[in-house]
Amino acid sequence: MKRDIIILGIESSCDDTSAAISKNGNILANLVANQDVHSSYGGVVPELASRAHQQNILPVVDQAIKIANIEKGQIDAVAFTRGPGLLGSLLVGTSFSKAMAMGLDIPLIEVNHMQAHVMSHFILNKDIEVPGFPFLCLTVSGGHTEIVLVKDYLKMEVVGRTIDDAVGEAFDKAAKILNLPYPGGPLIDKHARSGNAAAYNFPKPNIPDLDYSFSGLKTAFLYFIRDQVKDSPTFIDDHLADICASYQKSLIETVLDKFLRAIAEYKVGHIGIAGGVAANSYLRERVAQIGKEKTLQVSIPKLEFCTDNAAMIAITGHHKFQKELFTDQTIGAQARYQMINEEQ
Ligand code: KG4
Ligand code: ZN
Repeated sequence: MKRDIIILGIESSCDDTSAAISKNGNILANLVANQDVHSSYGGVVPELASRAHQQNILPVVDQAIKIANIEKGQIDAVAFTRGPGLLGSLLVGTSFSKAMAMGLDIPLIEVNHMQAHVMSHFILNKDIEVPGFPFLCLTVSGGHTEIVLVKDYLKMEVVGRTIDDAVGEAFDKAAKILNLPYPGGPLIDKHARSGNAAAYNFPKPNIPDLDYSFSGLKTAFLYFIRDQVKDSPTFIDDHLADICASYQKSLIETVLDKFLRAIAEYKVGHIGIAGGVAANSYLRERVAQIGKEKTLQVSIPKLEFCTDNAAMIAITGHHKFQKELFTDQTIGAQARYQMINEEQ
């Protein structure tokens, strides 16, 4: 009989401290401690984030082990986010994981955060079928916007990416202009539900190949609001739902234009979305609709596995464990960490 594989996953790349336990690819516990401290700053304050990680990491890991109902001694390996992300934040998770692996005398596994977002599709769940290969994944988060061709569990090629802002940033910066707290993406989504998406028009970026740019759209939005508020100081409050719906549609349709081109180019049978912006209700609906129209299989992760979480780190660790892709104690955090087109 095959023995169980139990992995502790640790994620601390930005402002969420998370720990998860996987057993044979199923998630037994996935805990996330959010950091409210950033909400009034309009973005993540790196120094505050790393301090909060230091406070949160021990109780979060402890709690995950309790919820999973396992003993520390049963853990086979510690998988952690090495990068990309904020260096001070990554250092907390990296140092903690190294110490834990050393203390328990078990292997250490480094994980690329962007690869892990894609790997969230491979978390086992009796109700959901995992994607087959090749699989095309649109990874949209606060720090990244990528179209990823997934050739195998750990073999991925980024075929399109943003040349400036990420789509999550374009949501958050617009929310700040609208005086909404950080992170504004979920709030724009919420207000958009009661708005008219055809109320206002924003320009579509014109970028070659499968790449993206969102800086122009963000500036157009800033000027639009500034001009409207000049004429009518209560413009934002009076039209919040319509503004959110129109801007959200522009952003998501821009993302989907290139994704549709990639689907045609790579002729895949299975598509999916990942990352924090994959929690967006309009994007989830549109991707499901595209799947139906084009008779493609569609994978949309549960909400808890879209925004940053350690379950995706644990599942990546699970696959790396089986291939003995371990790392040693000399490893350090890496703020800039690109995915490479080979097994990683
Ligand atoms: O993946 P994630 O948790 O962290 C990064 O790796 O960046 O993504 C966070 C991003 C933020 O920009 C947040 O505003 C956005 O995901 N987000 C959303 C929604 N939920 C989270 N954006 C639009 N609609 C949502 N429902
Ligand atoms: Zn992320």
